[in-house]
Amino acid sequence: MPNKNPRILIIDDDEGFCQLVSNRLERSGFSVVSANSAAAGLEENAASEFDVVLLDHVLPEQDGLSLLAALQSRSNAPPIVYLTGMQDSRVAVAALKAGAADYVVKDLHGDFLLLLENAITNAMFTTALKRERERAEAAVRTARDEFKALAEERALLLREVNHRVSNSLQLIASLLHFQGDVSGNADVKAALKEANGRVLAVARVHRSLYTSFDVRWVTLSDYLASLIRDLEDVSGGESSNSVISFSGAPIQISPDAAVSIGIVTTELILNALKHAYPNGRGQVRVLIRLRESEIDLLVEDDGVGTQDDPPEKKKRRGLGQRIIAGMAEKLEGALRYEKLSPGTRAVLTFPLGDHIRVLESEKALT
Ligand SMILES: Nc1ncnc2c1ncn2[C@@H]1O[C@H](COP(=O)(O)OP(=O)(O)O)[C@@H](O)[C@H]1O
Ligand SMILES: [Mg+2]
Repeated sequence: MPNKNPRILIIDDDEGFCQLVSNRLERSGFSVVSANSAAAGLEENAASEFDVVLLDHVLPEQDGLSLLAALQSRSNAPPIVYLTGMQDSRVAVAALKAGAADYVVKDLHGDFLLLLENAITNAMFTTALKRERERAEAAVRTARDEFKALAEERALLLREVNHRVSNSLQLIASLLHFQGDVSGNADVKAALKEANGRVLAVARVHRSLYTSFDVRWVTLSDYLASLIRDLEDVSGGESSNSVISFSGAPIQISPDAAVSIGIVTTELILNALKHAYPNGRGQVRVLIRLRESEIDLLVEDDGVGTQDDPPEKKKRRGLGQRIIAGMAEKLEGALRYEKLSPGTRAVLTFPLGDHIRVLESEKALT
């Protein structure tokens, strides 16, 4: 028995019956309150806590079934065992449907009292279990709500951090740009323009992170498309014959991999703009090509071509080639140059891995 002296309320207009049931239940350790009318029963039920209510079907003022609904309307209502004098299964079914925990047929010559005691014990046990389950479910709900709120707060903070980092990097890029503008030395100008491009490549990753729902992934095509727009601005977007085109397979990559790919792309595009077209500007094509277990990043131009050795084989490599080599190593990839007629194609090949996921279709991006 869950309680030491479980409290039972019996609502029945037959005082003799109430007495009989009380005597029996009190001998078994229950504490019993009798109410001989519907009104008295409702009052007792509202005034204190009972573990079980025994409710008679036939009451003078009110039908037991309608009283059943009233008794259950209070919060934490005790379970109700319905008492019926008739061998009428329809009443029992109606009572169970209306929410009674159990029913017992009043048959004073049979095992009625024993059945009643069993019904009371079962009702108490079932109710205790139900309440325990409700408590546990409420605790799970609260924990889930708290977790959700924490996760939302965390995502918001991360977005905020990425926003700030992106703004700071953009500020640094602007400073480099202005410094390049005021310098009278062409080499210094060129070096600062390249440094500006590299910083923008990193800034763009943070920008795409704070605008995305999932900070673990960067959509490569979106990232490179906006990086290319930045680079067009940096290298004098006013020049109408400088065209950088882009097309990319639908893949997502980790922010770290995005930084590496972004920096390599920046170097290759700036090289094409700087070296391929000494007398002006021309086409640069950037392409992300997905193969079975590898990805190719291609940057092509129709320019003068690499003169002697390809850039990556030169003995005295420029800073650009060293940066590219470092980033390629991070991606476990390699860079090679192919001669086009006319022009140059730089191909960075790196393997697919856990830091890259291929989207089934463009639709999966949203
Ligand atoms: N698209 C290209 N077309 C022609 N020459 C190129 C191209 N890309 C690179 N090169 C050659 O490779 C060299 C090395 O490039 P890099 O390491 O980026 O150094 P930098 O750009 O500072 O000269 C360049 O100086 C240039 O001669
Ligand atoms: Mg370069």
